[in-house]
Amino acid sequence: MRRKLAAGNWKMNGLTDSLDELRSLARAHPDPAVDILVCPPATLIAQAAQVCAGLPVAIGGQDCHTERTGAHTGDLSAEMLKDSGACAVILGHSERREDHGETSDMVRAKARAAHAAGLMAVICLGESLAQRDAANTLDIIAAQMSLSIPDTSTAENLVIAYEPIWAIGTGKLPDAAQIGEVHDFIRTRLERRFGPGAGRGMRILYGGSVKPNNADQVFRVPNVDGALVGGASLRAEDFSPIIKALSQTG
Ligand code: 13P
Repeated sequence: MRRKLAAGNWKMNGLTDSLDELRSLARAHPDPAVDILVCPPATLIAQAAQVCAGLPVAIGGQDCHTERTGAHTGDLSAEMLKDSGACAVILGHSERREDHGETSDMVRAKARAAHAAGLMAVICLGESLAQRDAANTLDIIAAQMSLSIPDTSTAENLVIAYEPIWAIGTGKLPDAAQIGEVHDFIRTRLERRFGPGAGRGMRILYGGSVKPNNADQVFRVPNVDGALVGGASLRAEDFSPIIKALSQTG
């Protein structure tokens, strides 16, 4: 059985004061039936990990370099994230693919580095609106999957996040059939590549405009094992009802 996962991506938001949100979140879910992961900006990882020590909220990063060490000014290695208290890292988010020209080959190398450091890689995939309108969604997902996911992936160290670019930060939620089609497609391909055991154990999250008022309709879709939440993960009062909705499904 796959354990459900509620993951928050704070993106470039959060100062020291925001750690209070983590305390509130942990207090609201002392014994959650689902895994909770929060990925704050790198500046807060160490403090966030301290705040959440012994509490059911795990901490992750939002990117890592492909190398362990070296002359890469401004970059962080997977080992550094792990050393500062992270247990996971988001990779290949569409904002990084767009803002930093990250290719799927780079994402795969980063995921391999994350695995080598003992981090769980949350690899993001998703189509643009133009690609969807051209009926290319599944081809795009297939290509992103084969190039972005390394062979080092297991049910424990890989999570896929399907995030249609047009749904991120727009309030536009795909309907259940659209989410279901892509999640089923991803599941089938994971099983084919990694075998029925591992492929069935890998979690697939949906991301893009998940809010307290629509979370339960997302979580009812088969093969949706949780969510990667942006804006609504910044405040405990928004993220908490999403976690509750996930706990109450399946
Ligand atoms: P929003 O939930 O703000 O749409 O962001 C989704 C996202 O990009 C999570 O990685």
